[in-house]
Amino acid sequence: MNDELRIGVFVCDCGSNIAGVVDVPDVVEYAKTLPHVAHVDEGKWSCSVDALGTMKEAIQEQNLNRVVIASCTPRTHEPLFKASVKEAGLNPYLLEFVSIREQVSWVHMNEPEAATEKAKDLVKMGVAKAALLEEGEEIRLPVGRDAMIIGGGMSGMSAALFVAEQGFKAYIVEKGPDLGGILNRVSTVAHDDHTVPAAHIVQATRTKVEASPNITVYTNAEIESVDGYIGNYKVAVKTGGETVNLEISTVVVATGMREIEPEKGVFQYGENPSVMTQLQLEERLKTDDLDGFRNAAIINCVGSKNEEHGCCSVGCPVSVKNALALKKRNPDANVYILYRDMSLVKDEQVLFQEAKRAGIKFVRFPDDRYPEVTPEDGGLAVKVRDFLLGEDLTIPADLLVLTVGFTGDESIDAVRGQLKVSTNKEGFFQERHIKLGPLDFPADGVALCGCAKNPKTLKESCEEGIGAAMRASIPMKNGFIEAEGIVADIDLTNCDQCNLCYKRCPYGAIEIDEEKRPSVIKALCKGCGLCAADCPKECITIVHYSDEQLQAQVEAALEEDPDKKILSFVCHWCALGGVDMAGVSRLQYPTNARLIRVMCSARVPIKLIERAYELGAAGVLVVGCEFPTCHYISGNYACEKRIKRARKRLQKNGYDPDKLRLEWCSAADGPKFANIMRDMARELNLG
Ligand code: FES
Repeated sequence: MNDELRIGVFVCDCGSNIAGVVDVPDVVEYAKTLPHVAHVDEGKWSCSVDALGTMKEAIQEQNLNRVVIASCTPRTHEPLFKASVKEAGLNPYLLEFVSIREQVSWVHMNEPEAATEKAKDLVKMGVAKAALLEEGEEIRLPVGRDAMIIGGGMSGMSAALFVAEQGFKAYIVEKGPDLGGILNRVSTVAHDDHTVPAAHIVQATRTKVEASPNITVYTNAEIESVDGYIGNYKVAVKTGGETVNLEISTVVVATGMREIEPEKGVFQYGENPSVMTQLQLEERLKTDDLDGFRNAAIINCVGSKNEEHGCCSVGCPVSVKNALALKKRNPDANVYILYRDMSLVKDEQVLFQEAKRAGIKFVRFPDDRYPEVTPEDGGLAVKVRDFLLGEDLTIPADLLVLTVGFTGDESIDAVRGQLKVSTNKEGFFQERHIKLGPLDFPADGVALCGCAKNPKTLKESCEEGIGAAMRASIPMKNGFIEAEGIVADIDLTNCDQCNLCYKRCPYGAIEIDEEKRPSVIKALCKGCGLCAADCPKECITIVHYSDEQLQAQVEAALEEDPDKKILSFVCHWCALGGVDMAGVSRLQYPTNARLIRVMCSARVPIKLIERAYELGAAGVLVVGCEFPTCHYISGNYACEKRIKRARKRLQKNGYDPDKLRLEWCSAADGPKFANIMRDMARELNLG
C-alpha cells in the first residue's frame, strides 16, 4: 500500500430516499473539503451494478486506498460494497460505511437542513475513521475429522452414529459401564398408542454403534484433561486403569441428566419404602417386586415448576405412562395422578385417553397447595385439595411415586472446567444462544445436545444428538473454520500480565503462556471488543474498531456544536437493528444523535465516554442488545458493569453522570429507539 492517504467518498441519493431530504450535492461539496479526501462521487443508486462498476473504476484510476460509502445501512449493504472494493483490488477492511438514510433522511424528513448537517457530520466521522483503517484478513484454522462425544446415552450415541456416517471418527467417552445412559434405568418408552421396552431401543442403537468401524467406545471412562481448541484438542481419557491420549478436532457434550432426589422426609421419601421417584419406579417396573399394591398415587411437579427449577418437560407424559404400567401390573388397584397442570403434546394425548379409559383418576391440585402425605395404618394417607371439585380428598396409598425435576449429570462441573463452558442455575449446560446457537457453546467446535441442556424426551434427545453432530461436522467437512478479520490483537509492550483479557473473553480465544503472557487465537476471536475495552493497560486493539479509530469518530462528531449533540455508541446487532427499524418505519425524532457503530456494547471503553464529556457533548448514549440476547454472549452484562464504573468516574471528575445513558433495544424496536432519542433530547434541553 502506498503511504499517501487517498480517500474516496461515495454519497448515494438512493433515488429520492436520501436526496429527497438531504441536500446531497452540498454533502458532496463538503466531503471534498475533508482531509485526505481525493475523490467524491454522487450516485443515484450507489448499489446498482453500474454504480458499483463506476466506483471500482474510480478506486483504480484515482488510486484510492480508503473508501467511505454514505448510503443506507451497513447491516444490509456492507457485504456488497466490501465485495466490490475487493474486486477493485483494495483490502475490504479499508472500507467505512455511513448510514445517511436510516439514520438521517428517513428519520428527519421534516428537517432537511438539520438532516443535511447531520449527514455531513456522519461523513466527516466516516472519513476520520477511514484515515486510520488498516488492512484485515479472514483467518483460517485447519480442522481435522475426529470428534469426541462425552456421554454414551441416546443423544451421544445418535451423535456418534451421525459423525461416523459422514466418514469421520467418533470417540465416545462414557463414564458408566454401558452405553445407554438414563434409558438403562427406564422400563418402557411410550410410542404412539403402545410402549416399547427401553432395553430394546438401547440395544438396537448400541449394536449399530458397536458395529461402526468409525466409532471407538470408552466405557468406565473419565476425562482427565482437555487442552486446545477446535481443530486442535488434546484429551487425556482414563479408562480401565490406563490413560488414552486422543487428538480430536471437535467435541459434542451429551452428558445427560439425573433426577433431583427429594430431601428425606419430603412426602415421606426416604422414610417409607413405598415412596419412590419415577426413575426408581421404572427400575422396579423392570422386575416383579411391585405386585402387592392396592392404592398407588403419583404426585407431579415435585421440586420443579418453582422459583429454582422450571417445568421438567417430561414429568406429565412419564406419569401417565407409568400410571398405565401400574394399572396393567395390577388392574384392581386404584391409581391416582395428582397434578398441577397436565402438559402433554398431541402424540401423548393417546396414552392420556387410554389412562382415563383404564380408570386412572386425575386430581388437579392448586399450585400453592401441594398434597400432604402422612403415615396411616401401616400405609400412607395423601391429603389433596381437588382444585376442580373444590374439595379436600384423602387418598390411601401403599405406593407413592414422586415425579421429581432434573438437573445435569454429576460430571457437569468437571466437564465445564475442562471445556471452559458455562452452566446455568438449574445445573444444566448453557447453550450459546437460545435462538442463534441452540446446539452450540460459545467456543467454536463444541456442540451440546440432549438432556445435558435440559430434560427431553427420547425422540428429542436423539434428534438433538444428530443436530449437534451436524454442528460439529460442518468444520470437519470444510476442513477449516474461518473467522472474520475483526479480531483482537495484543501488543505486549505495556502488558503487565494481569490476564484480565484471558479471564473475560467469552470465547476462550485468549491463551496465556507459561509466563502468563496473553495471545489471541485469532480463529476463535469474534471481535466483540470486551477485552480491549477492559484492558487496564490499553494493550489490545480490535481490527476495524481500534480505540484510535473510535476516538477519531468521537472527535469528528463533536468538533462543532458539541453541546447540541448526543454522542451515541450502538452495537451492530440489535441496537443498530432498532435504529434501522426506526428508519424503515419513518419514525421522526430529533436530529441530535451522532451514532458510532461498534460490534458489541462491550466494546465501549470508559475513556471514550470521558473524551466525549471533555469535548462538551450534550449527552452520551450507549445502546446494546436486550438481555440475554447479546450476540457475544455476555457483552451487554460487561457493558452494564462498565457503565456503572464510568458514572462513578465521571462524577469524581466533576461531570454530570446523568448525561450518560445506557439503553437496551431489540432489533425490532424502532419505536423504542425513537423514544430514547426524544426523551434524551428533552431531558438535555436540546429543543
Ligand atoms: Fe449487542 Fe452485544 S451485540 S450488546
